[in-house]
Amino acid sequence: MNRAFDIGIESLAATTSSGAGPAPSCAPEPARRGAPAAKSFYIETFGCQMNDHDSEKVAGVLLGRGYRPAETPADADLLLYNTCSIREKAAQKVFSRLGDFKAAARDRGKVVGVLGCVAQQEGEEIFERAPWVSLVCGSASYRRLPELVAQIESGGRRVTGLDLDTDETFETELTRRDNPIRAYLTIIEGCDYSCAYCVVPRTRGPERSRSSASILGEVRRLAGAGYTEIQLLGQTVNSYRDPSARGLNFAGLLVAVAAVPGIRRVRFTTSHPSDFTREIIEAIDATPALCDHIHLPVQSGSTRILRSMRRTYTRQAYLDKISWIRAARRPISITSDVIVGFPGETEADFEETLTLLDAAQFDGVFSFKFSPRPNTPAQHMDSTISEVEQGRRLAVLQEHQRQIQLARNQKLVGSEHEVLVDSHHAARNQWAGRTSGNRIVNFTSPHLSLLGEYIQARVVRAGPNSLVGEHVS
Ligand code: 5AD
Ligand code: SF4
Repeated sequence: MNRAFDIGIESLAATTSSGAGPAPSCAPEPARRGAPAAKSFYIETFGCQMNDHDSEKVAGVLLGRGYRPAETPADADLLLYNTCSIREKAAQKVFSRLGDFKAAARDRGKVVGVLGCVAQQEGEEIFERAPWVSLVCGSASYRRLPELVAQIESGGRRVTGLDLDTDETFETELTRRDNPIRAYLTIIEGCDYSCAYCVVPRTRGPERSRSSASILGEVRRLAGAGYTEIQLLGQTVNSYRDPSARGLNFAGLLVAVAAVPGIRRVRFTTSHPSDFTREIIEAIDATPALCDHIHLPVQSGSTRILRSMRRTYTRQAYLDKISWIRAARRPISITSDVIVGFPGETEADFEETLTLLDAAQFDGVFSFKFSPRPNTPAQHMDSTISEVEQGRRLAVLQEHQRQIQLARNQKLVGSEHEVLVDSHHAARNQWAGRTSGNRIVNFTSPHLSLLGEYIQARVVRAGPNSLVGEHVS
C-alpha cells in the first residue's frame, strides 16, 4: 500500500453522524492574511493497518504543531516516509523511494524523515545510504516526535528516535482520520512473542497495553464525531491487559467498547491463536455490536513447521479453537495468514497446510512466500526452499483457497445482510460495503447518498472474494 493523506476526512465523518456531539476537527485553520504560511507535510505510508494508523497519529502531532497537510510530496516542506520491513520486497522499496526525494531535499530544502520498521531496523545506517534524510524514527519513539520535530525546526540534522526498550504507548491529542467510515484505534503496541521469521518484536519493541480509560475516552470521542465502526488494533490484539486498576482483559474491553453509545460495529485485528479464549467468543455471542469476524493467523498446518516457526501452538490446538468459533451461536467469518516455503517445509508439511485449509474453511487467507529477514532466527536456517518452489506452493495454496471461498460465498446467495456502505463508483453508480463478517458486497441503488449508511442487501451472486447484492432496504 502506498497512499498519501487526503484532506477533510474528519469533516466527512461528521456528515455521517447521528448528530450527537461536536466533531473534533483536525482540519487546519485557513491561513490568516498576512500571517506567515504554515509549514506543510506529506506522509507516504507502506505496510499494515498499524502503520496506516500510526501515520494518522503522526499527522495529528504535526497538525497540533501548526503544520498543514500538503496535497503532493512536491508541495510539502516536510516529507515523511512510514516504512514496512515485514518482507524483503517492502524493505527494498525504501531506498529506491528515498532516492526520488534526493533532489527535492538538496535543491529545494525539503526535510525528509524515515519512520516505521525500516527506520528502526536500519537506524543511523539510513543517514549513510541516504545523507539527505534528516530524521530516522522507529514506532516505539513516536511519543517523542514533538521534541524530534522541534530539533529539526531549529536546524537539527541526523535526528534520531530509535529507543526500543519502552513501556510507553503513543497517544496523541489529535489524530488525523483518513477513513470516514471506520476509525482505527491502537490498544496494544509491540509484541512479546518471538516467531522465528518475524521482525516485529525488533522493530516495534516489547508489548505494552494502553489503559482502558484512555481507549474508552477515544471511543466516546469517535462516536461523538459520528463514527459507528471502530477497529481495535494490535500485533497481538487479544493479548491486551489493561494496565490500570480496572484490569480488563481483552474480552472485557471488547464488551466495554461495544457498550459506548453510538458504536454499532467493533472489529479487532490481529489475534494470536495462543491468546484466543472462549471468553472472546462468548463476548461476541452476547454482544451484537462485536462483528462476526476473527482474523486468526495460522501460518502453517504442520505442527513440525509451527514448532520451527516458534508459533507456540500445534495444528490440533489451532483447529480446536476453530471448532469453538464454529460452535458460536451466530456464524463468524474466520480469515488467516499463511507462510509457504518456510525453511525445512517438506511437500508433506505443505500438504498439511492444504488439509488445514479444508478443515478450517477460512473466508479469506493472506498468503506469503517466506522471506528471510535481518536479525531473525529464521534468517540463516538451513534447508531453504527455492524461490521457484515457493512460488509453486503459493499458487497451489491460493487456488485451493479460492475454491473454498467460492463454495462458502455461494452458500450465501439468497441471504440478507446488513451492509455498512463505504465506497461509491460514480461512473457505474455502484456502491460497496461490508457485512459484519467483513465480506464485501457490491450493489447498485437509485439512492444518491449512501456512504456511511447501514442498508440491508440480499446476495444475488457470489465470487471468491466478494458478493453481489441487491439493495433491499
Ligand atoms: N516472510 C513471509 N511472511 C511473513 N509474515 C511475517 N513475517 C514474514 C516473513 N519473514 C507474514 C505473516 C504475518 C503477516 C503479517 O505477514 O503471515 O502474519
Ligand atoms: Fe510477529 Fe509472531 Fe509477534 Fe505476530 S506474534 S507480530 S508474527 S512475532
